[in-house]
Amino acid sequence: MGGRRPTCCEVSGPLGGSALDGGSEAFVTLTTNDSYAKGALVLGSSLKQHKTTRRLVVLTTPQVSDSMRKVLETVFDEIIMVDVLDSGDSAHLTLMKRPELGVTLTKLHCWSLTQYSKCVFMDADTLVLANIDDLFEREELSAAPDPGWPDCFNSGVFVYQPSVATYNQLLHMASEQGSFDGGDQGLLNMFFSNWATTDIRKHLPFIYNLSSISIYSYLPAFKVFGANAKVVHFLGQIKPWNYTYDAKTKSVKSESQDPTMIHPEFLSLWWDIFTTNVLPLLQQFGLVKDTQSHLNEEDVSGAISHLSLGEIPAEAQPSVSSEERKERWEQGQADYMGADSFDNIKRKLDTYLQ
Ligand code: UDP
Ligand code: GLC
Ligand code: MN
Repeated sequence: MGGRRPTCCEVSGPLGGSALDGGSEAFVTLTTNDSYAKGALVLGSSLKQHKTTRRLVVLTTPQVSDSMRKVLETVFDEIIMVDVLDSGDSAHLTLMKRPELGVTLTKLHCWSLTQYSKCVFMDADTLVLANIDDLFEREELSAAPDPGWPDCFNSGVFVYQPSVATYNQLLHMASEQGSFDGGDQGLLNMFFSNWATTDIRKHLPFIYNLSSISIYSYLPAFKVFGANAKVVHFLGQIKPWNYTYDAKTKSVKSESQDPTMIHPEFLSLWWDIFTTNVLPLLQQFGLVKDTQSHLNEEDVSGAISHLSLGEIPAEAQPSVSSEERKERWEQGQADYMGADSFDNIKRKLDTYLQ
């Protein structure tokens, strides 16, 4: 437990939080395994770095190792063990090309945290760039639009009110109707179905859940508004911890020409927090060996890559005519690491704007 709360004037029972200091409000995340736990730890560290006054809670399942649970205890105020809820809905999950996301229904347990009056749920693959305690001024269910279908909200960041009644209704809906995407986001959008049309205050600005993939799909907007981002969400199959990081050059490597390639600056920031704040804890609890040797090892990064972002030697890139390149871009097959890299596009935009 973090023990950051003052102990005077506690009013809200066993958790020791106080309504006065925001103790009955919490940021909540989820990890069902040791991989997402790395994300949760970076998220928790980033919330602390930006001096949140709210409590930090992580939901875990029995698959998380004991050592990892001990590390989580050093960053989070409360660790809550929950059962895995899995939709097992491979048909819908296949449509999303994310067969592994059935377990995201486990997120529904967050409504059972009735010791808190209000919470902000954040995916373990999010990173906080500024203080976001102002989110607690919003009501349930506040969330930002999903970049893929903006009439749906993205369930990577949302403000909600714990309630046994809502929790039971959600579980009932999950078992009776299922989720249209096989994960929590489909279900939550079915449940809070008037989100798109009723109350604009429940639409969080996109800067509270900036999906890394949107950066490339609307680069001019990112250029103007990107600096205001408060939360970046590494949405998609490849997560920051799947890349290899070179601690000496402070750069991230990747071998795949991944179309959802994460913006290198945010990726480096994630890794910076990881190496500075999280890695020493993992070492302390015996989850990695030593700083020098582990960084390229599978156990920490789950890494697969050799190329550094934005640093592909010219001869490594197949030459493609501009017509072919345009066609590939339109088919969603942009060469994000080469010709269509952020740096290249930015350079081009800069020349237009000058
Ligand atoms: N999650 C988890 N274990 C898993 C998959 C997901 O704990 O095996 C949790 C984790 O908090 C994660 C969230 O569910 O951030 C949603 O999954 P993910 O972020 O991978 O979905 P995306 O945002 O990429 O669609
Ligand atoms: C989304 C959300 C994620 C959710 C998943 C499954 O893409 O970002 O939070 O768990 O869909 O519904
Ligand atoms: Mn996510």
